[in-house]
Amino acid sequence: MTIHATLIPGDGIGPDITDATTRLLEAAGAEITWDRQLAGMAAVAAAGDPMPDVTLESIKRTKLALKGPLETPVGTGFRSVNVALRKTFDLYANVRPAKSVVPGLRFKDVDIILVRENTEGLYIGIENYVRIGDDDRAAAQSIAVVTRYGAERIHRYAFDLAVRLGRQKVTLVHKANILKYSQGLFLDVGREIAKEYTGKVEVEERIVDACAMELVTKPERYDVIVTTNLFGDILSDLTSGLVGGLGLTPGANIGRNAAIFEAVHGTAPDIAGKGVANPTAVMLAACQMLDHVGKPELATRIQQAIEATLREQQTVTRDIGGTANTAAFTDAVIAKL
Ligand code: NAI
Repeated sequence: MTIHATLIPGDGIGPDITDATTRLLEAAGAEITWDRQLAGMAAVAAAGDPMPDVTLESIKRTKLALKGPLETPVGTGFRSVNVALRKTFDLYANVRPAKSVVPGLRFKDVDIILVRENTEGLYIGIENYVRIGDDDRAAAQSIAVVTRYGAERIHRYAFDLAVRLGRQKVTLVHKANILKYSQGLFLDVGREIAKEYTGKVEVEERIVDACAMELVTKPERYDVIVTTNLFGDILSDLTSGLVGGLGLTPGANIGRNAAIFEAVHGTAPDIAGKGVANPTAVMLAACQMLDHVGKPELATRIQQAIEATLREQQTVTRDIGGTANTAAFTDAVIAKL
């Protein structure tokens, strides 16, 4: 059955790495009809809007998108495209797997899936200054909002994912010892949801600071992590670093109304247009997408070809110590299929 998906090539290295990815998917026999749409600076240049309605309409229709990185114009007053997408499609779960594949790194046995709540917490955007005397900015406050609804759905998502993938353990990461209300509610809800999965998957709790320390001393003891927005943002960059960096880490944004898959990295302006970017992260994001639409065998086959190419280190890109360009790496992965 043909999959209908929106393809946003993006800015900077985006077109190169998304082209490489669609070429790989085609070679693997994935039947996908792409609706190509613009966003970011490419859309500003073409239509004067970084998030054109036609692109949103396309995602509303397909409910599925693969997205290259988008340049966020600084100081021009354009709204953030990522925030617009998150809000429009209620993309509440950000899923970032980090797995040791590249040889020769400090850590060898990392295989962590971090599930980050993507819509609440300190990122909800309720902030203000407090005026005292003549000083308009004498103080500032940012409010963290955790709802039972939001906490339930992210915990349930994490536990369901763990069970579906046959993972051993879910770690609830929090700071409920200090933030007794917002983090306390998040943890309490997590404990309630965990009971529904008794016997199916193990559960443990970690305070976020202890978790950060353990992630760099014994990362192999972590399996699936579920946490709030800010902690997830920080810890998922940490887990990327454990396995070789940004060029390798994909991210899925899952919502009730759509799912958007992308690399964790940005547009890499320093290497844009040179044809040397590492397409691995977007390729792995495409595997997450195939898995999401019920094609896990195809996703696994493509992922194994990518991992075999990375493991061999014969034809890899410069960011991970090789000399190959984007096209040569893609050819090598296709040869492994
Ligand atoms: P960046 O991730 O684009 O680049 C950081 C460093 O990593 C650079 O040295 C770059 O060459 C390297 N790098 C990144 N991806 C690579 C790849 N696939 N292969 C080889 N090397 C790679 O971060 P930066 O420079 O802070 O941001 C550049 C632009 O990207 C900004 O406009 C930012 O707003 C945007 N951005 C967009 C994101 C998205 O759309 N999801 C996420 C992060 C940043």
